[in-house]
Amino acid sequence: MSTKPLTGHETPGDPCCIVVFGASGDLTKRKLMPALYNLKALKLLPENFALIGVAVTESNDDQYREKITSDIKQFATREVDNAEWDDFAKRSYYLSGDFNSPDTFKNLSLKIAEIQKQWALPGNILFYLAVAPSFFGKVVEQLSLVGLTTESDDAWKRIIIEKPFGHDLASARALNATLSERVKESQIYRIDHYLGKETVQNIMVFRFGNSVFEPIWNRRYIDYVQITVGEQLGVELRGGYYDQSGVTRDMVQNHILSVLSLVAMEPPASISGDSVRNEKVKVLEAIRPMEPEEILANTVRGQYGPGIIDGKTVPGYRSEPNVNPLSNTETFVAMKLMVENWRWADVPFFIRSGKRLAAHTTQIVIGFRRTPLLLFGKDVEDNIMPNRLVIHVQPDEGITMDIHAKRPGPRVAIANVPLDFSYKDFGETSAATGYETLLYDCMIGDMTLFHRYDSVDASWRIVDPILDVWQALHPRDFPNYAAGTWGPEAADKLIEKSGHSWHHYFLNK
Ligand code: BG6
Repeated sequence: MSTKPLTGHETPGDPCCIVVFGASGDLTKRKLMPALYNLKALKLLPENFALIGVAVTESNDDQYREKITSDIKQFATREVDNAEWDDFAKRSYYLSGDFNSPDTFKNLSLKIAEIQKQWALPGNILFYLAVAPSFFGKVVEQLSLVGLTTESDDAWKRIIIEKPFGHDLASARALNATLSERVKESQIYRIDHYLGKETVQNIMVFRFGNSVFEPIWNRRYIDYVQITVGEQLGVELRGGYYDQSGVTRDMVQNHILSVLSLVAMEPPASISGDSVRNEKVKVLEAIRPMEPEEILANTVRGQYGPGIIDGKTVPGYRSEPNVNPLSNTETFVAMKLMVENWRWADVPFFIRSGKRLAAHTTQIVIGFRRTPLLLFGKDVEDNIMPNRLVIHVQPDEGITMDIHAKRPGPRVAIANVPLDFSYKDFGETSAATGYETLLYDCMIGDMTLFHRYDSVDASWRIVDPILDVWQALHPRDFPNYAAGTWGPEAADKLIEKSGHSWHHYFLNK
């Protein structure tokens, strides 16, 4: 696993053919193509590669090259070098076809064979499924029927699957059963783009690369953990998908629980592959699924009404395109989870996420316990916060440690002093989309940052009972927060009941 920005000093990925299903979609043009181009610019894409875009839209190789050339000008995150791009474009091909039709896969097989011959490529193939979830199983099934998933000693076949992996526990299990009839677990790369984010990967380096934090990383010193993923955006043009999903499925089941498990896991035996994934899944397994009455006490859901974001009035969720005007889908969630193991017993993990919140921010706050003795008087101590460590994931990347210091002067007055470390001051901030590391890791066969099925199953086991209770008890107060706020009041009450409050901490502000 790459635990620092990819610099180009690493060895390039294995020569391969990259097949992107969903080639005309948003994800492909905004994230995947810029990420592949960044890898090329960093000399991490193998010199010998070919790319095939597959989608239903009628087009041909030349038209496709024109399209990606115009898209990259718009979405590249670094300056595009003409010579590099020309090489990229000339190695790019297009196949139009319906994913339901076996002919598409027969044609794909022929096209791959032709391209492999033309470029003298080995048999390695990376399939990227940037398609609607209902196609995941079908595409893999069809690929296997035409022999495209069969590996040999010198030819790997790897499949990157986008989220969501299932709609609930039962459908995730069914999808996994379909996949495992066709391919091995070692071929399935379940992607989570949060794990491609620089500061998320830095959690491991921070914890296990410094000797000072790990000894205090437990219930004796840590009072609570908060994870906030706030978005100012609404559902944009994804109302159709989102209304069937909601924030718990969209963000908690995957991104947030995965970040939580990195924060809470035991030190792994090594930093790659299954060692890390073994430890992550143990954390999820230690979060006991809640009983209905616990769900009512420890979770809050919300839906945004109209409000103001950046000075502009925005509509409520129920008026968004492709959203049911009577929708009960939650666009905000807050919950208190308990990791019931020796390290974390009794330490609450508060998580919250929502659309149309007051700020775009992802941050992890580790709250430490107060000092055991109030040496400087209760009044002084009451006015200062116990130490906090804030890991800023986005938009600004960095880490803040809040410590206490004496204010200069004759009296004892204590102030909170933030020790800030910002990635911006640290050196080159990478022009990354977040997908580079993950695509690169797949090309070198490193699965550390991808979800293994047991962790997907474990996170559905946490989330499913909550969704069931919510489904049975329709919310009576939706919409219950105005766009541009921090969610419903009940979310504040939820955390206040435990004697805490949500932190909104901004780097460099
Ligand atoms: C996606 C969700 O997985 O993550 C979106 O489907 C969400 O709804 C997005 O907006 C957030 O990602 P990021 O990287 O912008 O925080």
